[in-house]
Amino acid sequence: MILEDEYKQRRDTLTKKLSKNSLAVIFSASYKTRSNDTQYPFRQDSHFYYLTGFKEDNSVLMFVKKGKKVKTILFVYKKDKQEELWNGKRLGVKKAKERFLVDEVYLVNEFEIKLKKYLKDTHTLYYDFKTDGKNIQTLMQYSKDLYSYKNIAKDISLMRLIKSDAEIKLIKKAVSITKEAHHRVMKMDKVGKNEQEIQAELEYVFKKNLAYSDAYTSIVASGNSANTLHYISNNQQLKDGDLILIDAGCEFEYYASDITRTISVNTHFTSAQKDIYNLVLEVEKEIISMVKPNVLRSDLHKKSEELLVDGMVKLGILKGKTKKLIKKQKHKVYYPHGIGHWMGLDVHDDCPYKDKKDKEIALQKGMVLTIEPALYFDKDDKSIPKKYRGIGIRIEDDILVTEDGFENLSIDIIKELDRL
Ligand code: GLY
Ligand code: MN
Ligand code: MN
Repeated sequence: MILEDEYKQRRDTLTKKLSKNSLAVIFSASYKTRSNDTQYPFRQDSHFYYLTGFKEDNSVLMFVKKGKKVKTILFVYKKDKQEELWNGKRLGVKKAKERFLVDEVYLVNEFEIKLKKYLKDTHTLYYDFKTDGKNIQTLMQYSKDLYSYKNIAKDISLMRLIKSDAEIKLIKKAVSITKEAHHRVMKMDKVGKNEQEIQAELEYVFKKNLAYSDAYTSIVASGNSANTLHYISNNQQLKDGDLILIDAGCEFEYYASDITRTISVNTHFTSAQKDIYNLVLEVEKEIISMVKPNVLRSDLHKKSEELLVDGMVKLGILKGKTKKLIKKQKHKVYYPHGIGHWMGLDVHDDCPYKDKKDKEIALQKGMVLTIEPALYFDKDDKSIPKKYRGIGIRIEDDILVTEDGFENLSIDIIKELDRL
């Protein structure tokens, strides 16, 4: 759980970065229509949530900076019996004042009046450039004469790179629920079942453990579908002898987990499947062991390319010298994605990879990233030995950078071949 004190600290840190006589506005997310009269489950905007922990739509956070002095204002939706009858209770102004360590709380329908008022003394307007169009229109309507706009998302994203102890706890909880889910399907008798049944089992465990949601649509890809990177149809029957690539993780209290395991439908790996599995697993372990402060993610990626290409040469999949093959990008079709990504409030955490000078940001204590090397061999690729065609393997863990190395948060999720 993240306490209001921590949210306040984050707001204080952020406001120190704002220029004098500026105004910053961060909107909550809005409901999105799924089909007529129905909506997708609400998911708060990650930046807004990072600064407030508030889960309601129709709210706005505002910072008014006069000289160096900052006033923090939260706008919330009104308590309305009729609306609450359909959509549930709202916090309302009174309770919001009690809960949040902000200077002022108003109803959201006062937002435009306040915006207009504070814009008068403002030189710079900060907002998230990815804000919904409707909200941008409101901002633009009142700030037409302003000469300076800045993207506040940049400052928030940078803060989000380093996770606090409370955030790490929530990520660990998400990973532990995800562990239970993966282990459940590893143990299941799967031959003849549909991929969707596996998805249901995973998501049953998520929900049973009070994870609000999956962190992304679960990928349950059997056979050649493992070679479709974002396969989410999950509608094939599982065949004896096939592998299943399962990339699934829950979101717990807004924090993601992102785990891939590639397992066998019938628990038996053929020797060709073992060749590829062992290679990917070895590379994954090697790259994880390199994680520590000051290391560059791009160097981890380069090393993973080298090791995978070396391995493919040994298996007769690629022919030639590793360096030359990489230079010619010969491996790209088999390993087309990066080694991993930041993870946190978003599964692909909305945090920068480069600093303001366009220099790559090195790993630091408190960062969380995935390590997910893979090899994908399409069934119709005639250029590779026949026995490897149709095999797709990815192994993905969630790694915390510590003071002198790393902690593999998902170390307990089985991946050794003899235990699968
Ligand atoms: N689950 C998406 C990814 O691994 O990046
Ligand atoms: Mn990932
Ligand atoms: Mn994944």
